[in-house]
Amino acid sequence: MVLDLSGVRALVTGGTRGIGRAITLALASSGARVAVNYRSHSESAESFGRELGERHFEHMMLKADVNQERSVGTMMRRIEESWSGLDLLVLNAGIWQRGELGKMSLSDWRETIGTNLTGAFVVANEALRLLTMGESSAPKRIIFISSTSGIRGEAFYSHYAATKGGMIAMTKSLAVELAPHGITVNCVAPGWVRTDMTADALADATTRKAIQSSVPLGRPGEPDEVAAAVVFLASRQASYITGAVLNVNGGSVL
Ligand SMILES: NC(=O)c1ccc[n+]([C@@H]2O[C@H](COP(=O)([O-])OP(=O)(O)OC[C@H]3O[C@@H](n4cnc5c(N)ncnc54)[C@H](OP(=O)(O)O)[C@@H]3O)[C@@H](O)[C@H]2O)c1
Repeated sequence: MVLDLSGVRALVTGGTRGIGRAITLALASSGARVAVNYRSHSESAESFGRELGERHFEHMMLKADVNQERSVGTMMRRIEESWSGLDLLVLNAGIWQRGELGKMSLSDWRETIGTNLTGAFVVANEALRLLTMGESSAPKRIIFISSTSGIRGEAFYSHYAATKGGMIAMTKSLAVELAPHGITVNCVAPGWVRTDMTADALADATTRKAIQSSVPLGRPGEPDEVAAAVVFLASRQASYITGAVLNVNGGSVL
């Protein structure tokens, strides 16, 4: 089975680092054109853009804060001007910051909700017009990057868990709502994955041991392993899957 994404016009939010970077590379390697969104790390975005260019992957680098409607609107106009539409939206941008009830400020709560959940809404809301415009033989897909936290909760990260649970609820709602447009909506829920987000936790020997023993496969995942699930859900072969939550967690939450 060859997962061929030729002709697919994709947008990956938070697409320059960690899991998003792996998704961008996997989509581009499968033939998709990729609009790569980032917010703040301009240097890593520039060097990643150069790498994509050297590998002759058709791409554009788009700086925008997903939680800012105006900046997302500008990003969508750039995509529309260049590609006249969109086929695949991967809602990956996210932050994970500790927040203990009783000590968490309202602004901490709002920052996480705003980036992870409101940000996904703002981008999906703006992208729908592009996903439904014109004629395209490419499959139409929205893929949320949630987390095991959204399934089982996460102590000291209740705001983060709420955003990831919210993404699962959005997936199931939009799968039904957008089915008449021929758009499938699915969700990938990773467990521990080795990225900048988890670097501090995985660098601490005690925490790393605890993480390893909580995962039946005995190790954290790699970004490529999440990206492979996204490529499958984006492909024509996943045409009858919608509203699904695909766990990529080594068996840690079943
Ligand atoms: N790593 C894990 O163990 C794990 C597990 C489950 C789920 N996840 C989820 O997977 C996704 C990616 O995580 P990761 O580990 O790859 O994290 P990461 O290495 O910290 O990368 C996060 C990405 O999100 C972008 N981003 C953050 N806020 C943004 C905003 N307001 N607007 C646009 N982009 C923004 C960042 O852009 P800049 O570089 O410009 O800041 C960066 O590209 C997140 O949604 C996370 O919750 C991760």
